[in-house]
Amino acid sequence: MSIIKSLEIKITNIIKSAGYDVETVKLCNSSRPEFGEYQINEAMAIGKKIGKNPREVATDIVNNLNLDNSFTNINIAGPGFINITLSDSFLLEELNKILNNVELNIDKQDKKKIILDYGGANVAKALHVGHLRSANIGEALKRLARLLGQEVLGDAHLGDYGRPLGLVILEIKKMYPDLPYFDPNYCGDYSEIKLPITNEDLEKIYPLASTKSKEDEQYLEEAREITVKLQNHERGYYDLWEKVVSISKEEIKQVYERLNVYFDLWKGESDAANYFDELKDIFEKENVLEESNNALIIDVKKEEDNSPMPPLLFIKSNGSISYETTDLATILERKKLFSPDEIWYCVDGRQELHFEQVFRAARKANLIDNNVKLTFIGFGTMNGQDGKPFKTRDGGVMTLKSLIDLVKEETLKRINPETVKEEEKEEVATTVAIAALKYADFLPFRAKDYIFDVSKFADLEGKTGPYLLYSTIRMKSLLQKVTDKNITFLEIDKNTRDVIKNILNLSNVLTSAYQDKSLNDIAEYLYKLTSSYNKFYAENRVLTEENPAKRISWIALTSIVYDINTLLLETLAIEIPNKM
Ligand code: ARG
Repeated sequence: MSIIKSLEIKITNIIKSAGYDVETVKLCNSSRPEFGEYQINEAMAIGKKIGKNPREVATDIVNNLNLDNSFTNINIAGPGFINITLSDSFLLEELNKILNNVELNIDKQDKKKIILDYGGANVAKALHVGHLRSANIGEALKRLARLLGQEVLGDAHLGDYGRPLGLVILEIKKMYPDLPYFDPNYCGDYSEIKLPITNEDLEKIYPLASTKSKEDEQYLEEAREITVKLQNHERGYYDLWEKVVSISKEEIKQVYERLNVYFDLWKGESDAANYFDELKDIFEKENVLEESNNALIIDVKKEEDNSPMPPLLFIKSNGSISYETTDLATILERKKLFSPDEIWYCVDGRQELHFEQVFRAARKANLIDNNVKLTFIGFGTMNGQDGKPFKTRDGGVMTLKSLIDLVKEETLKRINPETVKEEEKEEVATTVAIAALKYADFLPFRAKDYIFDVSKFADLEGKTGPYLLYSTIRMKSLLQKVTDKNITFLEIDKNTRDVIKNILNLSNVLTSAYQDKSLNDIAEYLYKLTSSYNKFYAENRVLTEENPAKRISWIALTSIVYDINTLLLETLAIEIPNKM
């Protein structure tokens, strides 16, 4: 249990022993630090409830708090705020407990099984900036949930089905009509065919085919037919589809790995499609499908809606299944394969309506137990200086790779040539660039848009990834130079109170990040903890301090801050280079 939580329980019991009934109290950071580090606000509520002067209530509580040597400087302010400061002896004992195992200072959540749908890359299309956000936030949420004791399965949920793939296959057919995949008389083994197409080609083919389909009705019709063939697993077309998926998946995996993003499941929309027949049975039995203009729809409106809620398109008039239906089939698949307690979707905020329709339809047809939580975790867009989704200079879609390169140009300039060897510079600059991008992406509340600003993101000062990396590397190098044995806290000195207060706050930050499903609190906390430590570091010479009790305590402090930083950077999936 975290230090703060155990204090809250202790204080609750103290208030009870003073004769007052109270729920578990919250220890708040003091709004007037000159009176104490923390404050307890319960006296007012208790006084009001039982009709007693809150200051008298506070006095009773304080008399009991005084009996406990965890607190000092206990005083009452205003109508009955109780200010307290933690005693040195209490801090020494608690800090020594978490030294070498900072996880002891983290409160866990009730254990649940969660499927986290994130990444969402589309096969045969280059990953773009939007996919960065999903991968980045999703991976960190997965790690955060695990840190807090949850069982999480991360699923890449690839977009590998539907019209875009039909278009790609059609364009390949136009380019290479003689490939055996298109020869109905071919009876050989498709796996022996060498496809003259690389992933780079695929990334060009889709935009080309997509443009053609918008200009040419006949072309679009052909793509539709091919899409149906794929969905019916028609020999040849289906085999080519499998090949395209596998080429693209290799590349997607590499990009994700470079971002430190790893999935437990590599399922895609095409896997869910296998559950479609069963899904349809369920929806028919539950009587929720309606016919409308040759399509099947589900009414998902609710009386309390005050904005339009269009019906969910279950089967389109041309017989194909929609993106919504694919997501319903995915819910069925996940329920059958994994029986999760919760499913989280880390997806662009602009898809909120889609998920609202899907969740409502799932509830309406009792597709999944009512206790299973379906949670949409929408994120905003990364915009350019013009406030519009970030594009390349010539207005094209910014791929993830070129985005990383753009930041790398900037971080490369800041690599210290005295510490990093020439041949390692590129690699280190890339690691720092990814950290810069990731951290900047976590900093605003996830649902907010933010503006891409390379020189700000890559700065070595301020709230940036490079600042955190640089500071953490410096702590590590300090710790490597330590020659003292038996590092423990021997004394608490005034200089370190701020840092200690931040250390104590760790668990609250993680809990609130978990509740909000946003990493901004952790990003802010990392900065706060690190800068408070750096301030202390600038004012004191840790390794050469002559008073051994001070020196050893300062080293212990450095060690805890270093451990928290590495733990949190690891949770955010930000890699720390050895040098920079
Ligand atoms: N592939 C989709 C896209 O690029 C994202 C998938 C999100 N997940 C889901 N279950 N629909 O927009």
